[in-house]
Amino acid sequence: MAPVKVTFTINGITTEALEGSFLLASLKANKIDVPTLCHHKDLVPNGTCRLCVVEVTDRGKTKTVTSCNFPVKEGMVVSTEAPSVVRNRKVLAEMYLGRWPNVPAVKEVAKKVGVTGSRFSSDLTDENPKACILCGRCVRACETFIQEKIIDFAGRGIKRHMGMPFGEVDPHCVGCTSCAYVCPTGAIEVIDDMNHPVDPLLIRNHGMRVNAEMANLDPSQCRMREVGTANIVEVMDAYDLLPVCNYKFGSHKDTPKIDSKVLKEQYFTQGHADQCWHGCSMACAKAVDGYILKTGPYQGDAVCVDGPEYETSAGGSNMGCFDPDFIVEFNFYCDTYGLDTISSATTIAFVMECFEAGIIDTTITGGKVLNFGATDEALELLHEMARGEGFGVDVGQGIRFLKEKWARELGADAAFLHDIGMEAKGLEYSEYVSKESLAQQAGYTMAVKGPQHDEAWLIFMDMVNNQIPSFEDKAEALYYFPLFRTWFGLMGLCKIVWNDVSPADNKKHPPQEAAKIPEHVHNYWKFFEGMTGIPLDEKKMLDQSARVHNLQKLMTLMLGYGTRQSDVPPYRAMGPVTEEEYLSRQERYDGQLTANLGLDPASMDLPAKMSALRTFRYEQYDKVLDAAYKRRGWTREGVPTLERLTELGIDLPELVEIAKKYQ
Ligand code: SF4
Ligand code: SF4
Ligand code: FES
Repeated sequence: MAPVKVTFTINGITTEALEGSFLLASLKANKIDVPTLCHHKDLVPNGTCRLCVVEVTDRGKTKTVTSCNFPVKEGMVVSTEAPSVVRNRKVLAEMYLGRWPNVPAVKEVAKKVGVTGSRFSSDLTDENPKACILCGRCVRACETFIQEKIIDFAGRGIKRHMGMPFGEVDPHCVGCTSCAYVCPTGAIEVIDDMNHPVDPLLIRNHGMRVNAEMANLDPSQCRMREVGTANIVEVMDAYDLLPVCNYKFGSHKDTPKIDSKVLKEQYFTQGHADQCWHGCSMACAKAVDGYILKTGPYQGDAVCVDGPEYETSAGGSNMGCFDPDFIVEFNFYCDTYGLDTISSATTIAFVMECFEAGIIDTTITGGKVLNFGATDEALELLHEMARGEGFGVDVGQGIRFLKEKWARELGADAAFLHDIGMEAKGLEYSEYVSKESLAQQAGYTMAVKGPQHDEAWLIFMDMVNNQIPSFEDKAEALYYFPLFRTWFGLMGLCKIVWNDVSPADNKKHPPQEAAKIPEHVHNYWKFFEGMTGIPLDEKKMLDQSARVHNLQKLMTLMLGYGTRQSDVPPYRAMGPVTEEEYLSRQERYDGQLTANLGLDPASMDLPAKMSALRTFRYEQYDKVLDAAYKRRGWTREGVPTLERLTELGIDLPELVEIAKKYQ
């Protein structure tokens, strides 16, 4: 629905504003200056100080209102200079001045309304220039940005003051400094010496921007505060990107059993900011209290589970397990055992497919019937992996180990195992289906540490938004995003505040720029500058990161995973390995054969169609790899050129020696 405008007059001048907006904004828009103390642009107004009073006549009734929280109305008549409001303001300013005579914000307001002295000095007069004037901004900041009331009013009457419960520092305070930022007097002092930043104010200013966006935009964007990263379970399912049964499929009818709605309504009991990044108010972490474990060494105990987040739920769907209790329990034991939920889930999903394909049987699994969806058996296997017992000894060593062992000892089809074994460089894949995104296939597999989305998550840019259609566009994304992500990882900064909430006007940028979220990248630079005193821009940031990224690449090379063959994904990450998979998306794949290769699927049998699609997808992948290597300054073999090492200033003899062999 289009926003409705209302028309009214201010001091005899006709003006318009959006219905529901507050009058103070209209006064400012008309360059009419009324004094304020409790108002702040990032906070919901609540009319505490009463200095912004104006006179409003609406449908024959005249009254004095606080303009900061008075919604505009059609036909109303506003006067900011009516004798009663002028008198009101003056008396109020005099009272403020009587109690807090040296606070600059109070003196400024008094001056604005023509008050130079006060008749209200008393025992309560506080000479401190940084005295608290009880405006309540800090309380609203804590409520708005942290969803807490850690700082609040205490005491009554003349004893009213601000504080934390029982006058002690509340451990739930995340140190976001929002309260200090909005305080008009400096009454809340921030001790900035924890990490000795060069310019703490610069950091606070940008931190406040982040806090304000999180508070105002997150509810209508990713809902991180409400449900954490689990918000994308249903989104991925809707886009056919949620891994199901070892990445065979991208959605499932039972996804609603494990989606964010279920987790929020039936499981999550905690969701406040947990200080994983000091001062962050995003509160993306969620937790489940009092979960009674059904298995394992703590069976019967009521425990607190840190999660689940998206990857844990998606790990469940990848094992074909759409039982939220299983996901919570799997989450708890992975954390408790120190096992990575992604690697564990992806490995067990691979084991399940091998079991269903008859590659292994119960003689190998220690009697466990490990079909997809076998929740009890999956948990038993997880416990065995942690204890280093039975079948868990092998499974705990990951997919690469299992592929090689089963091909060698069981005579299994090595090519098939390679196709369905979702690992690269020895690391298991993260929980996204990348079949329809060429850029993501490369993003995962080219990642120097192995296929995790820490370096590049380009599925939406590539597949959903079609923002990087050409090979060169994809190569550019595969240059910029891994370097940006590597950079903030190196700085110990979190990714969530980069793109899980976007500025409201982010779409003003052209699509490829918009994907970078330029204003938020700028926040990271300012944070860096505030800490180090060194200003940053895109080139400097990318160069800093490229030095480390190329060094990592050379180290990967030393480990034997640094050449082109290690950057090629298993085919399951690129397309349909089995007939069942092809048939599940037959219409799409048939359409691609026609559109891209000019083939007539109706005249081809299934193996022929699958073979043609596979050849096409490998060719496409080769092209994207060539383009990305070129953009990164790497050879066709995927190794940094000597010129690139020199350009980055890392042409140290030891490094040149490693790279030289592959030029
Ligand atoms: S620093 Fe942040 S969390 Fe702590 S009291 Fe202030 S607003 Fe609340
Ligand atoms: S501490 Fe600052 S923001 Fe809080 S009530 Fe006092 S003056 Fe206002
Ligand atoms: S600014 Fe409106 S009441 Fe304080």
